[in-house]
Amino acid sequence: MKPKVIVEIDKTNMPEDVTDALKPYAEVVYTRRPFGDHIKEAVGMLVGGSKIDAEFLDKAPVLKVAARFGVGYDNVDVEECSKREVYVTHTPGVLSGGVADHTWALILGFMRRIPEADTYVKTGWGRREKYIPFGWDMEGKVLGFLGLGRIGSEVLKRSQGFDTVNQYYDVVRNETLEERYGVKYVGFEELLRTSDIITVHVPLLPSTRHILGEKEFNMMKESTVIVNTSRGPVIDEKAMTKALKEGTIRGAALDVFEQEPTPLENPLLQLDNVVVSPHCASATWETRRKMAECTVENVLAYLKGDRPPNVVQEQRDLTF
Ligand code: 8YV
Repeated sequence: MKPKVIVEIDKTNMPEDVTDALKPYAEVVYTRRPFGDHIKEAVGMLVGGSKIDAEFLDKAPVLKVAARFGVGYDNVDVEECSKREVYVTHTPGVLSGGVADHTWALILGFMRRIPEADTYVKTGWGRREKYIPFGWDMEGKVLGFLGLGRIGSEVLKRSQGFDTVNQYYDVVRNETLEERYGVKYVGFEELLRTSDIITVHVPLLPSTRHILGEKEFNMMKESTVIVNTSRGPVIDEKAMTKALKEGTIRGAALDVFEQEPTPLENPLLQLDNVVVSPHCASATWETRRKMAECTVENVLAYLKGDRPPNVVQEQRDLTF
């Protein structure tokens, strides 16, 4: 009998012609939470948004590889997986360009007020509002990167035509990027105090949860725009809503929220100085295909007896 691989990702995101590569080695089952009996027999799992924690792993006694469809794996308890000798893999790199494109779409969407401009035209050019929406130039704006890893550096690369003044804070300094793109390394507080746009590119970790809260918003300029395509909980949404309402900061452009889907009642959604999208920064045909292929390659490698190529860094030195 072939081992079982369960897939909790829908077929638009994880097409069957991609998972077909697993079929010589495994029985592939598309299924949804709570997964029924499949979970007991699954050796591999293509993981979407499910929590992979101790409670889940108790029900999955033969699981050997949990392959996240995405670069972030904050829904997976890596320590618990390591204890039980389950590889955790993700899809680094393949989505950086796509997410960076969307980050720029949000930056420009806010700065040039695209949602309002769209509504202006579609509701009868000048009929509802007398004046066309005025935005702000990018030239000379201080663009601050909170996190300059794979995705942040792609956003930085794309900034080169906009004549922004670029600076970053990260726990790791990257002198290569500093030289290549003229981006300046600054302290966390300096980044907050001097940036016109703060674009967030950190993973969600205990140390980054609510890294931007009331204290931090109070340090920012009135011209500051927050852009977040990483994870919602890195920002204290309540504190941000207050800062946006009171004009402590100029605006926010957000792809991610503390709760997803974010409820319609979220007061953030009532604000004119907020541009939003539904956690879709990696959602292009090309990028999602690459993510699907990368996720499958990780499970395939395991099934063939090799080490999966994209094991998360916490498991870098572990072999099961
Ligand atoms: C996806 C993401 O939306 O890569 C990530 O960590 O958050 C996004 O690319 C998500 O993984 C799809 O489920």
